[in-house]
Amino acid sequence: MSKVQVAVLGATGMIGQRFVQLLEGHPWFEMEGLYASERSEGKRLGEVNKVKDHAFMQETLSRRIEQIDIAKISKGCRVAFSGLPSDIAKDYEAKLSEAGVAVFSNAASHRMREDVPIIIPEVNSEHLEIVRTQPTYAKGGFIVTNANCSTTGLAAPLKAIQGAFGLEQVVVSTYQAVSGAGYPGVPSLDILGNVVPHIKGEEEKMEAEAVKILGTYRDGRIIDAGFQILASCARVPVHDGHLEALVVRTAKDATAEEYAKAMREFRGEPQHLELPTAPKVPIIVREEADRPQPLWDVNAGEPARAKGMAVTVGRVRKKDKYLKFFLLSHNTIRGGAGGSVINAELAYAKRMLR
Ligand SMILES: NC(=O)c1ccc[n+]([C@@H]2O[C@H](COP(=O)([O-])OP(=O)(O)OC[C@H]3O[C@@H](n4cnc5c(N)ncnc54)[C@H](OP(=O)(O)O)[C@@H]3O)[C@@H](O)[C@H]2O)c1
Repeated sequence: MSKVQVAVLGATGMIGQRFVQLLEGHPWFEMEGLYASERSEGKRLGEVNKVKDHAFMQETLSRRIEQIDIAKISKGCRVAFSGLPSDIAKDYEAKLSEAGVAVFSNAASHRMREDVPIIIPEVNSEHLEIVRTQPTYAKGGFIVTNANCSTTGLAAPLKAIQGAFGLEQVVVSTYQAVSGAGYPGVPSLDILGNVVPHIKGEEEKMEAEAVKILGTYRDGRIIDAGFQILASCARVPVHDGHLEALVVRTAKDATAEEYAKAMREFRGEPQHLELPTAPKVPIIVREEADRPQPLWDVNAGEPARAKGMAVTVGRVRKKDKYLKFFLLSHNTIRGGAGGSVINAELAYAKRMLR
């Protein structure tokens, strides 16, 4: 069977190049073209390569970047993966969906639209149904987003806990990697040997997106989950991997062992469907007193195609009525390009890309 042709938008950026990494040799998708701004037109990927922990194939490095061309993409591609800045993404993604292309986006621009889902398939695969209500769906075009990189990390652990014990309150503090700010990101003199206790708009995004993702899909609408979430976000001098400290109050009380078991045994639809980029175990619960750490755990996930797709949880403990734990997830893979690729795999498996 022929592969689905896909475009990568923002192919010179952090997320765009993770898309290229994950799409190399993909069993269902084939890269039709790599797109960015007119500044990058004609350059080869090898000249603008920013991903240093993956060896791209020679053939991939020699591919040329093109300026975004809606007509060309809509003629040649069923899918567009977007790693564009939000202000730029809004218009391009809308035009592509109007032209019949299924857009899987990392940008925030359409995330809070009522008819656009924020999908993390282990958590809310049923929300994908809402794209059928988008005005462009009849022509085959629609927009699916994945969450902000810091929201992505906590979604699966919270889902496991919500399912078993119910959620009342979540307090989260983040320690976020510099790659989360794109390339070249935070100036080195501002971050080396430092911690910056502010990431513009991040706390608001986490608080709004978490209740939408963990909400219920009913009668063609997504109804926000009813728990309270309070986020505090900081940038730390780490290359990749967002670490988060959580304090959670559940409706039904449980022991630390029961909370850990619920997370360890949690599986979602990508695992049942055996999607190519799905980690076999989506939440890895570690017992060591000093894990998870970005240097050790950022690439957690098996098989090889799911490297960086698992969330690592550690230090699961109980204090009074509160559950406390740390988690770590790869911000440009699970929280970025990998999140969109697994969403497109889910849509393919549900026959929405035919
Ligand atoms: N980094 C993360 O951890 C992370 C995680 C989740 C979501 N996101 C979101 O993903 C998106 C991409 O983030 P990033 O970190 O990859 O950013 P980035 O490294 O700054 O890359 C931005 C990309 O967009 C292209 N671009 C910029 N202006 C353009 C224009 N006018 N027309 C066409 N292309 C244009 C750039 O191409 P040129 O090189 O030609 O300028 C580049 O390829 C953002 O919306 C971000 O919020 C990022």
